[in-house]
Amino acid sequence: MRGISFWFFAMGTIYVTIGMLWGIEMSVSQDHSMAPAHAHLNLIGWVTMALFGIYYHLVPEAGEKTLAKVHFAIATAGLIVIVPGIVMALNGTGEALAKGGSVLTVLSMAIFVFTVFRNRAAA
Ligand code: HEM
Repeated sequence: MRGISFWFFAMGTIYVTIGMLWGIEMSVSQDHSMAPAHAHLNLIGWVTMALFGIYYHLVPEAGEKTLAKVHFAIATAGLIVIVPGIVMALNGTGEALAKGGSVLTVLSMAIFVFTVFRNRAAA
């Protein structure tokens, strides 16, 4: 695994490690109020990012395109904005970050949909 596939997968391992430590902290403190933020860090940060990484590994032609780097940047920005955004929404301190992160995250998925169809012949 190299290039953009490595970076998607490697960052996913870091996000899930943080997410698991957060889960342990929730268990120890018996305060599960941040469970939705923990879940989104793990599901977008690990499951989704790892799937992107595996796809780009399986379809290297897609990973070599500039669009793959744009995809990585937008997916990363979306995660970094949406997780604190969900924390703020749960705390009742505003929803703007959660909304912004959601838009970036769905934009990242739209790029991936386009990528999958554009590279169907290479898959
Ligand atoms: C060390 C590993 C983990 C620990 C200790 C942990 C701990 C927790 C805890 C304490 C909750 C709250 C449960 C409740 O209030 O009912 C929770 C919820 C959840 N976790 Fe984890 N978790 C871990 C890893 C993961 C991973 C890897 C994923 C996904 C890939 C995940 C996805 C979820 C989901 C979807 C929820 C439910 C969120 C909700 O109800 O809003 N967790 N976890």
